[in-house]
Amino acid sequence: MTATSKRKILVTSALPYANGPLHLGHMLEQVQTDIWVRYQRLRGNDCLYVCADDAHGTAIMLSAEEQGISPEDQIALMKAGHEADSEGFLIDFDNFYSTHSEENRQFSESIYLRLRDNGHIAEREIIQAYDPAREMFLAERFIKGTCPRCGTADQYGDNCEACGATYTPAELISPRSVISGVAPIDRASVHYFFTLSNFHDMLLQWTRSGTLQEQVANKLGEWLEMGLQDWDISRDAPYFGFEIPDAPGKFFYVWLDAPIGYMASFAQLCERRGLEFDSYWCRDSEAELYHFIGKDIINFHGLFWPAMLDSAGYRKPTGIHVHGFLTINGKKMSKSRGTFINASTYLEHLDPEYLRYYFAAKLTNTVDDIDLNLEDFVQRVNSDVVGKVVNIASRCAGFIRKRHNNQLAADCTEPELLQQFVAAGDAIGELYETREFGRAVREIMALADRANQYIDEHKPWVLAREPGNEQAVQDCCSVGINLFRILVTYLKPILPALAARSENFLNLTLEWENRGDTLRSHTLQDFTPLMTRIDPDKVAAMVEAARQPTPAEKEPAEKSAEEQNDAAFISFEDFARIDLRVAEILSAEAVEGADRLLRLRLSLGDSEREVLSGIKSAYSPEELVGKLAVVVANLAPRKMKFGVSEGMVLAAGPGGQDIWLIEAGQGAKPGMRVK
Ligand code: MSP
Ligand code: ZN
Repeated sequence: MTATSKRKILVTSALPYANGPLHLGHMLEQVQTDIWVRYQRLRGNDCLYVCADDAHGTAIMLSAEEQGISPEDQIALMKAGHEADSEGFLIDFDNFYSTHSEENRQFSESIYLRLRDNGHIAEREIIQAYDPAREMFLAERFIKGTCPRCGTADQYGDNCEACGATYTPAELISPRSVISGVAPIDRASVHYFFTLSNFHDMLLQWTRSGTLQEQVANKLGEWLEMGLQDWDISRDAPYFGFEIPDAPGKFFYVWLDAPIGYMASFAQLCERRGLEFDSYWCRDSEAELYHFIGKDIINFHGLFWPAMLDSAGYRKPTGIHVHGFLTINGKKMSKSRGTFINASTYLEHLDPEYLRYYFAAKLTNTVDDIDLNLEDFVQRVNSDVVGKVVNIASRCAGFIRKRHNNQLAADCTEPELLQQFVAAGDAIGELYETREFGRAVREIMALADRANQYIDEHKPWVLAREPGNEQAVQDCCSVGINLFRILVTYLKPILPALAARSENFLNLTLEWENRGDTLRSHTLQDFTPLMTRIDPDKVAAMVEAARQPTPAEKEPAEKSAEEQNDAAFISFEDFARIDLRVAEILSAEAVEGADRLLRLRLSLGDSEREVLSGIKSAYSPEELVGKLAVVVANLAPRKMKFGVSEGMVLAAGPGGQDIWLIEAGQGAKPGMRVK
């Protein structure tokens, strides 16, 4: 590659909130970004990658308060944790900073003042819920009450988790502040608004310029069509953030200074490395700028942020690279299922490259969600990385070491095969460039299959048994090693540690441009295992470690006499939490060794469960199949002597033959809620 074609690129991942640890959803984003960045660097481009913690906002202020520490201490602790997690997953940031920094304060103030001087800031009085005890305004999620539609207690101020209704906090029945417990009152306050509609035409043009993913451009198009609302960018004290210039007691809303944090982190990097900030951020910059984000924050990056940059005299992003959400075993991550997995929990049990590979294999350039299926994960990584790629090297290395003193053949007997591997790099490179990592992985694995096929056909282990085949064995294994070298070069952005171990074994640096220079009479280092298989027990141990007991499973705390009295009653709220559902009995069988138990397989419409039920004395398994039972669907799974029971089937009666299953009536369907 010539010096003039070297691209100057600045890349960011979204700034994680400093009010909680990183989880595997965050890692999906950082891994996606990191693979793209490493690919750019491998191609010789000048690619910088910055990130930071998003440190401001009410949630951080309150959580610090709860722990009795200052917000500054809280965010410092979180930052250290986040950095350790990212490093654990081999995320190669050039800089990781914080939005609570002097650089960010300066950029935020100066950008705000330019917006204001350009006439894009409006002041308006609004009425908002206010906590008179805590003396602060309350955002919707800090107000709870009873749903005005279905009557479920303890719902947030904007929507009901039980029936899905949306409403304003004022509509809640008996609302109260989550912080103090008192009823909020209405109170007026002056807020500052960014008049986004002034940027309608610019945004319309920018979002249609062809650099955004189609789904993203369409979403932004819908918003533009509906008309852009003014954006409330101020919050009243107390608030953890930056005070607005000339507006005492008013603070920038966290989302105003968050994206500016990209600039602040980059500015700190410039200071450290002597780079020129303006050459990346000035309006006519030739550098490329990409933000990798999740689909939940498209409006901030696709509307507010480009408008702010435009008005303040900076360049706009070259592209916004949006990914979907991570699900685990087909479902949203869940603490009780053990699938809300923190990055650090994963790292305590498993090699980060297993997950980097699996994410890569599943990533596309669309906003579709990505599922981490834990069984498929084990199977896929073991069969692809260990079974195919590493296998090539381990099949060849032994012969080269034992019989040829670690030296490869002087000539390559399969120049065409090698040439095919080299040529495949163009397509693979293009797939990396366009973030079609899953397709890149499939191409690479198809080559790995070809390489293994070549070795299978030549059978060095058979050749080696007969005397006089020394040369043939060396030739064949040298071809295998040369192919392996090209494959690992292609995998280097995804598996940097495996690549480093391979470089050590191959005794060279893997570079994209010279991947085709055949290794002749080259000396290897002794082969050491490059990657071991995933042990499924470790995956199970990780899930167990991630699983947080549901409240019912927790050890009961010591109770006062009064509480013990109360314990005879459950509150209406507690009762309302019981999720009764109709379930179809798909199969029933006796449990070996258990006198009273039947093992029932149940369908709840969109999911299936296994439940152990003590109704054997009253029912034969055959007569149960097809019946519609009523089950407690949100009972925490219980480990019993004969297995895990995932719920409870309701039945009544004194026992023996006199037990009656509570059946759902005519017209009921599996999954229906029972009222
Ligand atoms: N602080 C804001 C971003 C500010 S950027 C100027 C924020 N933080 S976050 O911690 O909630 O999310 C950080 C990133 O992680 C976002 O891009 C978000 O989409 C992504 N993800 C959070 N949970 C995720 C999944 N379960 N799956 C995939 N990505 C997810 O938003
Ligand atoms: Zn409701």
